[in-house]
Amino acid sequence: MSLNPNALASPDLAAHFPPDFTWGVATSAFQIEGAAFEDGKGESIWDRFCRQPGAIADASNGDVACDHVHRLESDLDLIASLGVCTYRFSVSWPRVQPLGSGAWNEKGLAFYDRLVDGLLARGVRANLTLNHWDLPQALQDRGGWAARDTVARFVDYAQGIQRRLGDRLSAITTHNEPWVIAVLGHEQGGFAPGIKSRATAMQVVHHLLLSHGLALQALRADGAKADLGIVLNLSPTYPASDKPEDVAQAHLDDGRSSRWFLDPLFRGEYPADVLAHLGADAPVVQAGDMAHIATRMDFLGINNYSRHIAQASGPFDVKTSGLPLTEMGWEVYPQGLTDLLLRLHRDYPLPPTYITENGGAFPDVVTDGQVHDADRTRYLQTHIAAVAEAMRQGVPMAGYMVWSLMDNFEWSSGYAKRFGIVHVDYTTQARTLKVSAHWYRGFLQAWRAAKGA
Ligand code: FCB
Repeated sequence: MSLNPNALASPDLAAHFPPDFTWGVATSAFQIEGAAFEDGKGESIWDRFCRQPGAIADASNGDVACDHVHRLESDLDLIASLGVCTYRFSVSWPRVQPLGSGAWNEKGLAFYDRLVDGLLARGVRANLTLNHWDLPQALQDRGGWAARDTVARFVDYAQGIQRRLGDRLSAITTHNEPWVIAVLGHEQGGFAPGIKSRATAMQVVHHLLLSHGLALQALRADGAKADLGIVLNLSPTYPASDKPEDVAQAHLDDGRSSRWFLDPLFRGEYPADVLAHLGADAPVVQAGDMAHIATRMDFLGINNYSRHIAQASGPFDVKTSGLPLTEMGWEVYPQGLTDLLLRLHRDYPLPPTYITENGGAFPDVVTDGQVHDADRTRYLQTHIAAVAEAMRQGVPMAGYMVWSLMDNFEWSSGYAKRFGIVHVDYTTQARTLKVSAHWYRGFLQAWRAAKGA
């Protein structure tokens, strides 16, 4: 099977998006950088976690990953070659401040200087995330996100990054997916730091949100030029049936995964039903915290991959619809993205909203040096169309970023799950544009043509 990329470059689809829409690709530090113990970088909780037997499916780690630190210039060329407007990346906190407090590491800061300057020189905007999960291990040793002191450490780190890079950034995201850090990292324990306590996890959520709000205030007081916001992982939740118990379960699941974050950020309060459900596991909240959390954001970022179907008894997630699943076992349901965005627009006063991650892991077939990832291409097309439909119905969408620029370290799944639109050969580190990357490039050309640029 062969896909002609030009045939998939869709002027019709591109025409739905305004000239100031922001198109991008996304990565995160731990998943691509490598150079884990070079040039003064400190240990992160993911460096430590990967060494726990059984923690990572293929027993791999981030020591080398995509070797991005050593291939910065050619990776920047690769990003620019796609024709994107922006590149979403994260800073490894222990690379720039090895112990998470005190001394800064000049070599680490210089790396991100080169990254940002290299993007701007190539006409690509720099969209920086402060925390994509790789907390300095030294802070974990002092309690990590469960300790209130980490809030102050994060604000200090945010200010240091802005001082060094802030004049050249278009966006700063405080945290990527606080739900994952809290629930997968501290309640279920399958992600770093591998803790299993619901009460701890809920305290972690509170400290992440508080540090987000306080960081926004501090960055603005310091004269922030970049837009400031947070990135949440959100999935629309549907009840498995009309039975009252399934409907109630869907409401609770949505409460724990979505409203638990959206209500404090936009309304300054945790949802009462989830608080009641948590009982003694609810977080300790100090006077004034909730107002800080609700500090106005310039943007909201949403990572979306699939939907959730809830039922009162049986497995957590129902997968009986017969729709295709990605290699992660996540159902492909683009309509869910439109539903999600419409619901958010209805229930919250959304600032300009970005899809900061969307994409899929599929079994990539390499033939004659080409990767014919028709599934991924189709996934991107249909989800971009879902965003267009939400915009048509009034949702203030400002941008869309593909996860991911290139195949990388997929956390506890290791290197087996490939999300890239660029293929990475981990033996040679060769990068090969997949058909989806060719399609995306053609699509962006069509969009530029439509806006007359
Ligand atoms: C998200 C993460 C990102 C990547 C994708 C597949 O939860 O933010 O780093 O792993 O899932």
